[in-house]
This record gives sequence, structure tokens and C-alpha cells, in this order.
Amino acid sequence: MASLYSSVNLTATIRFLGGLGSTTFIVSPLIHLIIGIAMSKASASPIVPRAIPDYTTSEAGNPFVEGWYADPDTEIYEGLYWVFPTSSYAYDEQTYFDAFSSPDLINWTKHPNILTIANVSWATRAVWAPAPIFRNGKYYIYFGANDIQEDEPAEGKIGGIGVAVADKPEGPYVDAIGKPLIGDYHNGAQPIDQDVFIDDVDGQAYIYYGGHSHANVAKLNEDMISIGTFDDGTQYKEITPENYVEGSQMIKRNGIYYFMWSEGGWQGPDYAVSYAMSDSPLGPFNRLAKILQQDSAVATSSGHNGVFHVPDTDIWYIVYHRRPLSETDGNHRVIAYDRMYFNDDGTIASIQMLVKDDFANGQMFDWKTYGGDWTVANQRLTVASTTDARALLDTNFTDVVFDATISITDGSGDAGLVFRAANLSTGADEFSGYYACISATGSVTLGKADTGAWTSLGENTMEVSVSTEYQVRVTAVGSEISVFVGDLTTPQVTATDESFVGGANGVGVRGAGANFGNVSVAKAS
Ligand SMILES: *[C@@H]1O[C@H](CO)[C@@H](O)[C@H](O)[C@H]1NC(C)=O
Ligand SMILES: *[C@@H]1O[C@H](CO)[C@@H](O)[C@H](O)[C@H]1NC(C)=O
Ligand SMILES: *[C@@H]1O[C@H](CO)[C@@H](O)[C@H](O)[C@H]1NC(C)=O
Ligand SMILES: *[C@@H]1O[C@H](CO)[C@@H](O)[C@H](O)[C@H]1NC(C)=O
Ligand SMILES: *[C@@H]1O[C@H](CO)[C@@H](O)[C@H](O)[C@H]1NC(C)=O
Repeated sequence: MASLYSSVNLTATIRFLGGLGSTTFIVSPLIHLIIGIAMSKASASPIVPRAIPDYTTSEAGNPFVEGWYADPDTEIYEGLYWVFPTSSYAYDEQTYFDAFSSPDLINWTKHPNILTIANVSWATRAVWAPAPIFRNGKYYIYFGANDIQEDEPAEGKIGGIGVAVADKPEGPYVDAIGKPLIGDYHNGAQPIDQDVFIDDVDGQAYIYYGGHSHANVAKLNEDMISIGTFDDGTQYKEITPENYVEGSQMIKRNGIYYFMWSEGGWQGPDYAVSYAMSDSPLGPFNRLAKILQQDSAVATSSGHNGVFHVPDTDIWYIVYHRRPLSETDGNHRVIAYDRMYFNDDGTIASIQMLVKDDFANGQMFDWKTYGGDWTVANQRLTVASTTDARALLDTNFTDVVFDATISITDGSGDAGLVFRAANLSTGADEFSGYYACISATGSVTLGKADTGAWTSLGENTMEVSVSTEYQVRVTAVGSEISVFVGDLTTPQVTATDESFVGGANGVGVRGAGANFGNVSVAKAS
């Protein structure tokens, strides 16, 4: 069976099909069948997926799963992409982990309670940052528990980094050793926020970890449940880079070790990810740059990352948590991913948090609706015919290129793009912002609502057929606004207006029902 795997033809075919998005569905059962056969023959390490997800971001929207989660770490098991996050609640409520799996990074299956404190005798609260890895036919999760402070182990309080083991990726995981694996401070590092990494050169496993602004690396023995010893007799080597706070992560590409970590306070907006490169797994790790951080148009507090490397490709994703722009509760963290690109010299390019939604996952996790009956079906966001309704993303773009497809399904009114919008929750009477729409009566209009009062800024006649999909683009740069329909070079309407500088992006209808697809909101360059 092994030769089937390395077949260039098979890989190429599936790559082609996978690239078409919806046809991935057709490919997946085949892939799973092949994987199933190979697994039972080889029963070696888990086999990687064959479909190649090659996206610019989570094109079905970020967050990619529903719920408050943080500190995601990743693995690829049995042809599926897995994400293991912290449950983001008050410490006393952090007593379990959920996990998520996906064949394509689009549709995710939730696996609840893969590990709970019921199966870790010494853990009571604050179970954090599950780090998954596979070895010797077993699935391991390394986790922090109890949030011990520096003087507490001496007082008899138990806690630190534990290790749990399971026979399947989805668990159930149970404590492997009945006590913490790392239960004390070493070199000032709080025993939390671990990542486990197996070096492909020699099969040596390492654990990178640490909170309270100190990072350590230690060897894990072959059994994966005991700490090894370096040649100099020590067990914990401090590797703290400049600005390190927590959230250790190790990846390797082209023989280079990339140590990544989080900076800033996790509850504040400026939490961020930085990295270092080294030719040794033990460093030194000299801070090179901050690569992921808040964006005033998209989200705050972007940090504590994992990484997906799509096997046999140079496609990489950074998986991280962030706070929706308008949210302030420290625990309101959601998990997102974006593409991570490497420069020719091996450095990591600054990561752009992109805003897209093609609705391929059948969900609208990141949308808030104001009036109307909204659903997702057939890769479109649909609103039933109504007098006035909007669905908005929690964004705040100023200069923007905003695209979506729009199809009026019903009614004689209009459907369009809302941008630089504010005061949505107060309803139609108070809504402020711009609206660029196509109307079933045969026009394209750009207008503004100023605390509810509507003014047209420009209009053009254009035949608009019901149940026909039009690509609509708005570009707004400073006070210059253009609206394109179908033809993206010659605008249908242009106007100059400086009423609104920034605000939320979304879609809306007035006296119509409509479908919206392929939403993309980007900074105008
Ligand atoms: C985990 O703990 C629960 C509650 O004590 C117990 O019922 C269950 O059997 C345990 N699971 C495993 C896999 O040991
Ligand atoms: C993803 O989920 C959507 C909505 O349930 C479904 O229409 C689509 O077929 C799924 N895609 C795959 C690849 O399973
Ligand atoms: C939002 O509504 C309030 C109260 O009506 C108003 O004072 C404010 O100017 C509005 N904001 C915008 C951006 O229109
Ligand atoms: C959105 O951005 C504009 C322009 O940068 C800013 O004035 C406004 O306060 C922001 N709105 C919110 C809700 O953050
Ligand atoms: C979205 O874009 C994809 C890729 O270009 C295309 O296949 C699909 O038909 C589009 N969907 C909609 C609703 O416009």
C-alpha cells in the first residue's frame, strides 16, 4: 500500500479536485478509504491527509468554530486536521478540553470533553493549552493545570504540566502518571503553556514551555511521560527570548527551528506572537520580529498560536486565538487561522488577518444580524424578504475594498453592501453608515444613513434580474467611494462623501429577499 501513497498521479489528481472546494466532498471518502487500508497495514505513525487545502485564510470565516476557546495547538491525525484549545472561561470553570477535527480546514467536528479533571486526580481548575502529539501508537496531550504560583509547591499545593494518554485522537484521555510531569518552577518559568516537538533528525522529543516571562526546554524520554537529561546533566534549559511572556511553540522548516511565543497580556488588546530562528532545537533563540498582532480593522489580542503544515507542501497556517473587535471580556476569545508565508530567506512574513466568508461550512459564526430571517445554505447567506434587515461582521475598516456576490431572490426592493456602519444594534432608526445596493427596479444606488435618515449619494440605471448573481464591489478610500457591479473596472456609481470614516462591514436588504456569497473585506492598498 505504501507505494500508493507516494504516487505522484494520485496526489496531483486530488490536489486538483481539492482546489475546487466543494468537490473535496467527493474526494474525502476515497482518501479515507485509502488511509484506512494503509493504517491497518502499517500501524505506524498517523497518515496525513491527501487533499491539499490551499487557502488565503479561513475562507469560510473566522472564527472557524463556535464558542469561546483559546491557546489552540494542532496535529494531523489519520488524515484529519485536529485543533486542541483551552476552554476560555473563569479558571474554576476550566475543567475540560474539547477538540475539533476537519478533513479540509473548513467543516469542523466538535469532540467534547476529550479530557476532564475527572480523569486527572490532582487537577482541579485552570486546565490550559493542550499540546497534542503521537508516539509509540499512543496519543498524548500535555496540559497545564491549577495555575500554581512560584511558592506554592513548597506549601503543598500541587499543579503544573501534566500528561494524558489515549488510544484515539478524540480520547478519552486519562492521566498517564498520576502527578504533574513538571510540578515546580525551574529558571523562573511557571509550568504552563507547553508545546511538544519531535525532531525528525534523531527522533528526540522536546517540551518547550513556560509562563511568567520565562521559557524552558527539556527533553522528553522515549516513554513520553518522563523528563530526560541533557549531556551536561541538567534537565531544564532556559531559552527565554526578549519579550517572551508565554505560549511556547516550536516548528521546523528546511532544517531551521522556529521558536514562537506570545507577548503582552492575554486579556489586553496587544497580545501578539513573535518568533526566533535557530539551527539548533536548543537555541539560542534571538527575537526576530512580531508576526501576528491586533488589527484595528479586524480583531484584537491575537496570540498563543499553533501551526498547521500541510504535508508535502510549503503551505502553512497559523492557528491562534483573538478577541472580536467590539468585545472587551478577557475570556471572550475565539479561534481563527490565517495563512503563514515564509520569505525566501526563511524569515516569516508578517501575518495578515484576512476577512472572508464563502459560507462553505454552512455557518455564520462571525455575523450579527439586525432584523430579518438569516440562514446559510448552498454556500450563500440568505435573508427572507423583509422591509429592512442587515447582517454585519465585527469589523472596522476605513479604506476598504469590499466584495460580495448578490442575488435578489424576492421582492421589488434592493440588496447591497453596508460599510463604515455604526449604531446597528439600535435598529433602523439609528443606523449610520453607507449602503451600496442593486435594486430589482433596475438601478445601482450608493447612499448613506445618518442615524436613520437616508440620503442618496449617486444612482445609475442598470438592468437587474431577479435570481441572478452579481458581483458587487465597493472601494472606499478617504472620501472617494465607488460601486462596481459585474464590471470591476468601470464603476456604476462614484461619490465623494466624508460623513463616515470607519465602521462595520456587512450586507443588507430593503424590501427584498437576497442571497450573498463570497464576502471579502480587505484594506484598500
Ligand atoms: C474518567 O473518569 C470518569 C469519572 O470518574 C470515569 O467514569 C471514567 O471511566 C474515566 N475514564 C477513563 C477512560 O478512565
Ligand atoms: C461542509 O458543511 C456544509 C454545510 O453542512 C455542507 O454543505 C458541505 O457539503 C460540507 N463540506 C464537506 C466537504 O463535507
Ligand atoms: C449613534 O447614535 C447616537 C445616539 O443617537 C448618536 O449620538 C451618534 O452620533 C450615532 N453615531 C453615529 C456614528 O452615527
Ligand atoms: C473605527 O475606526 C474609526 C476610524 O479609525 C474610529 O474613529 C472609530 O472609533 C472606530 N470604531 C470603533 C467602534 O472602534
Ligand atoms: C465563490 O467563488 C468560487 C471560486 O471563485 C466560485 O466557484 C463560486 O461559485 C462563488 N460563489 C458565489 C456564491 O458567488
